[in-house]
Amino acid sequence: MATILITGSDGQLGSELKLVSKNYYGYDFIFTDLDTLDITDNQKTRDFIQKVNPDWILNCAAYNQVDKAESDIQTAMLINETAVNNISESIKGSECRFIHFSTDYVFSGKSFIPYNEYSEPDPESVYGRSKLAGEKAALSHHAAMIIRTSWLYSSFGSNFVKTILKKAKEKESLNVVFDQAGTPTYAADLAEATLARIAGVIRNQVAFIPGIYHYSNEGVCSWYDFAEAIVSESGLSCRVVPILSVQYPTAARRPAYSVLDKSKIKENYGLNIPHWRTSLTKCIKIIEQQQKIDLSPTLPRGQE
Ligand SMILES: NC(=O)c1ccc[n+]([C@@H]2O[C@H](COP(=O)([O-])OP(=O)(O)OC[C@H]3O[C@@H](n4cnc5c(N)ncnc54)[C@H](OP(=O)(O)O)[C@@H]3O)[C@@H](O)[C@H]2O)c1
Repeated sequence: MATILITGSDGQLGSELKLVSKNYYGYDFIFTDLDTLDITDNQKTRDFIQKVNPDWILNCAAYNQVDKAESDIQTAMLINETAVNNISESIKGSECRFIHFSTDYVFSGKSFIPYNEYSEPDPESVYGRSKLAGEKAALSHHAAMIIRTSWLYSSFGSNFVKTILKKAKEKESLNVVFDQAGTPTYAADLAEATLARIAGVIRNQVAFIPGIYHYSNEGVCSWYDFAEAIVSESGLSCRVVPILSVQYPTAARRPAYSVLDKSKIKENYGLNIPHWRTSLTKCIKIIEQQQKIDLSPTLPRGQE
């Protein structure tokens, strides 16, 4: 039975992996997060990995606060680079397969065509630089795969979709930048694609080919388009107003264009990726169901 260790599993992607893993029988999934395995602790990471001896490690742990990272460089580097190195060192010389997730923010955004895996990274932010350093740390292991993704959201955790839903309920209008283009990614789609490929490799249906891959949903949009779709999908009346990035200053510079070319992962692994709009509809339905459950009145004991 293959042992699959997932680190940082209480976040968006990790939580979706937990959910999807219920459809995969015959695998020994071990889900960890800060409380059970702090991957910045070198010795504990080594000991843990030695003890469970995984066949696969999926690292979902990350420091994702793009603006805060500008003034908290040490923590960003510790979680996004040093901790990844701790995992790589712990599996050095073994056949353990390592899947590490990274970001479209490793690119500067100066391109006008989608970035592929051979495009030169040139991050503009501390977050982007720390994630790029983490990619190098992961790739020091001979059986490592980097999956870069973009604009991740889920019904779990905090993200753009949930923020817009909340604000659109409170306000009459929302200003959202329209001069940054990319592709939203539903973490549930990425989780399913990842576990399906792992299962394919274990069953010898596809080969595990180490290296860098890009995965996002299909399509392209601006943050404005994304917000507009969230609002209209949920039937809210809030007006979404397009603004320029200069009208919404942030600590970190973000790429103006960070669309990922997914040809490599689609060709190597026969992936059929949903359009971002289709997946957004699914996610919003789940969020609305969760909210209904949260709002449902709880009856006094004995009256259920
Ligand atoms: N979110 C995005 O928009 C986005 C975009 C592109 C790429 N990505 C990449 O996609 C991957 C998954 O992102 P996500 O959005 O699922 O992340 P997330 O929701 O922020 O989850 C990360 C998890 O890692 C945990 N963690 C932090 N430090 C840790 C440590 N030292 N040891 C163990 N666990 C630790 C976090 O715990 P705490 O919450 O307690 O810190 C959290 O549960 C990451 O590699 C990320 O960089 C994300």
